Amino acid sequence: MAGKTIVVGISGASGAVYAQRLLQLLAVEERVARVHVVVSSGGQRVLREELGISCREAEQIPAVLVGRAADKFEYLHNANIGASIASGSYPTDAMVVIPCSMGTLGAIAGGISDNLMRRAADVHLKEGRPLLLCWRDTPLNQIHLENMLRLARAGATIYPINPGYYHGAETLTELVNQFCLRLLEKLGLPQDKQYQWKGTKG
Ligand SMILES: Cc1cc2nc3c(=O)[nH]c(=O)nc-3n(C[C@H](O)[C@H](O)[C@H](O)COP(=O)(O)O)c2cc1C
Repeated sequence: MAGKTIVVGISGASGAVYAQRLLQLLAVEERVARVHVVVSSGGQRVLREELGISCREAEQIPAVLVGRAADKFEYLHNANIGASIASGSYPTDAMVVIPCSMGTLGAIAGGISDNLMRRAADVHLKEGRPLLLCWRDTPLNQIHLENMLRLARAGATIYPINPGYYHGAETLTELVNQFCLRLLEKLGLPQDKQYQWKGTKG
């Protein structure tokens, strides 16, 4: 069975560490053959602000985030609206935008496909493929809420970066890790190390 092809968009919202952990997990996930990574200029800014990551060549971003080179990653420039993932004829299994800014979320909700990340998200919706939008912002205004409802109705999964606390994580690293393990399950990649609630006596 061929491995999955996943698209990861990194936009300019806070929460870059979640994108980093997701890419690290995808790098070692044997059921994933290809990961296309697209980063907005806002995303690059947040990678710099939050993780201190600044690459002379943007193509290096996945390897720098993961900590090593991985052949399965392909960096695609956000301005390249002619890249593979801009077309529904190119087979992918799912797309995640993590972290997803309210700007990118609003553009996708409005069908505005003026960069590769937005176009690829639009393609996932029109092709009926999974699109997970992992936003962090708080509080939400009415425009954000309406955009989210519109996207949910169009088939997207509105997936707040809102980790659980019932698994007893004691560090931020483990909190982020558990969030990303659960996210992988939503991509059809269940993880052995994902915490499962066993139930308690009431
Ligand atoms: C450090 C930093 C953190 C930010 N956090 C958020 C955020 O959590 N949510 C958001 O919608 N925008 C956030 N922004 C603003 C966006 O980056 C900005 O609106 C940008 O234009 C979004 O464009 P993009 O979606 O194409 O990346 C942040 C900006 C910076 C520099």
